[in-house]
Amino acid sequence: MSNVAPFRRRAAGHPDLLAGRAGGMVVIALASQAGGTGRTMLAAHIAVQAGLTGDGPVGVLDADPKGALFQWWNRRQGKVDAPAFGAHCEAAGLAVTLEGMRVAGARLCVIDTAMGDAAALDPVAALADMVVIPSDAGDMDEAAALGRALSKQTTVAFVFNCRAHSGAEEGNALAAMSAGGGWPAGTVEHARAYAIAMTAGRSVTESDAGSYAAQDIVELWTNLRGILVAG
Ligand SMILES: Nc1ncnc2c1ncn2[C@@H]1O[C@H](COP(=O)(O)OP(=O)(O)OP(=O)(O)O)[C@@H](O)[C@H]1O
Ligand SMILES: [Mg+2]
Repeated sequence: MSNVAPFRRRAAGHPDLLAGRAGGMVVIALASQAGGTGRTMLAAHIAVQAGLTGDGPVGVLDADPKGALFQWWNRRQGKVDAPAFGAHCEAAGLAVTLEGMRVAGARLCVIDTAMGDAAALDPVAALADMVVIPSDAGDMDEAAALGRALSKQTTVAFVFNCRAHSGAEEGNALAAMSAGGGWPAGTVEHARAYAIAMTAGRSVTESDAGSYAAQDIVELWTNLRGILVAG
């Protein structure tokens, strides 16, 4: 973990993410049963965007043995200050590592997980204020089923992530996924900019601010934040 001075900004009409919470840190976990749904990309982008909107200090916690999110965070070291904290741990070490982040001063922690079914992801959901499930048209039913199962533990939000194509029926798809429980949080269109930014240890909101890709991330965080604040 690095030690970076906390940066906090408060704007009118921008209620504190932590308002009404006793724990002192909000935890968001990305989860899906299928591989390659965009968990790592979205974890990184949510973490950066949360920092940009004054919800930091942010931590990223990689609970996937592959370690892609932690590698992305390491590529940022010495270049940018945020997310302030990064860690890579095994599933068994999740609670302890989260507590370490909280004590270090993180106000928000974004967890990336290995793909898994409801049984595997249940312990993560139990530690999270929100689980975000990305999916595209190919695995919507699976995503909906996972959301139904995890919503017994925590708040669930769905993201329609058009990673392989430009989605046509996004609105309907998002509504269908969340029909059984969970929030339709947003759609992220297909854009090569995501992979390019991730390889460079960046987010599109930093490397491509003003692009449609960046706009999708801004809107997604606005929605996720709204769901969290609404409780
Ligand atoms: N909206 C998108 N547009 C274009 N490419 C995307 C989009 N979302 C994700 N990708 C790309 O799809 C690939 C898989 O994304 P990512 O690694 O984030 O998924 P994952 O769910 O973490 O996968 P894994 O199961 O391997 O951990 C990456 O190359 C990523 O850059
Ligand atoms: Mg991943």
